[in-house]
Amino acid sequence: MTIPQRRSGPTRNEVQAHRGASAVAPENTIAAFKAAAEQGSKWVELDVALLKDGTAVVIHDVSVDRCSCSRGHLADMVATDLARIDAGSWFSEAFSGEALPTLAHAIEKLGDLGLSANVEIKQHAHHISLAQLAETVHAHLRQRAPHTEIMISSFDSEALKAMHKLDPSYDLAMLWSELPRDWADILTSIPATTIHLNYKALSFGLLEEASRRGVKVRAWTCNAPHLLVPFWDAGLTGVITDDPNLFLT
Ligand code: G3P
Ligand code: MG
Repeated sequence: MTIPQRRSGPTRNEVQAHRGASAVAPENTIAAFKAAAEQGSKWVELDVALLKDGTAVVIHDVSVDRCSCSRGHLADMVATDLARIDAGSWFSEAFSGEALPTLAHAIEKLGDLGLSANVEIKQHAHHISLAQLAETVHAHLRQRAPHTEIMISSFDSEALKAMHKLDPSYDLAMLWSELPRDWADILTSIPATTIHLNYKALSFGLLEEASRRGVKVRAWTCNAPHLLVPFWDAGLTGVITDDPNLFLT
């Protein structure tokens, strides 16, 4: 007889460093990815958007205002503008001069660091087309190191559909802040078999139904491991956190 194992926390493979280890380094920078690797993470989550000239960059917001010492909307910027951007000092002087990475640079560094990535596609109003965004991300991901595993996530189901068209083998996750009633139909339409849900919206009912349907559920962005303890045993399959140390130690 097999006795089911009680799970009070995630395995290393189930922890993703949100925007890198963004509790200890400036989010979505190579420094944050390095910090995640140093903490023992296998996975990082990062956000991708396009500049005016189609350059794919790793950034959460639609402008550089919050996370750099510069100001400007991505829709008004081109690749050569990146050289003047300090994406580290706003967080701490210790990270002064840290670059705002292109996706190409980030993918290369993830390979060096032995990291895998959850690439979150941010579809902003200024993007010329979803097809261009998806094709650009896809082209960069094809350059990844063989040991770098990739999953794609988005709040935009159309972005996930576009990625599926380009390569049906992509592991796709639908992001939600709150679970819509028709979540299962939306997943089928993509198709995707993973939900990334705000941890505040988790429920035992969802985990039971998801497990019945073969759907994985990860929780974001949780920095309080005790809040998730009851859910691991109920079938939660991962956590996205600013502070991987909390879950890995
Ligand atoms: O992937 C989880 C999380 O990153 C989604 O929200 O706004 O931090 O990109 P946000
Ligand atoms: Mg994100």
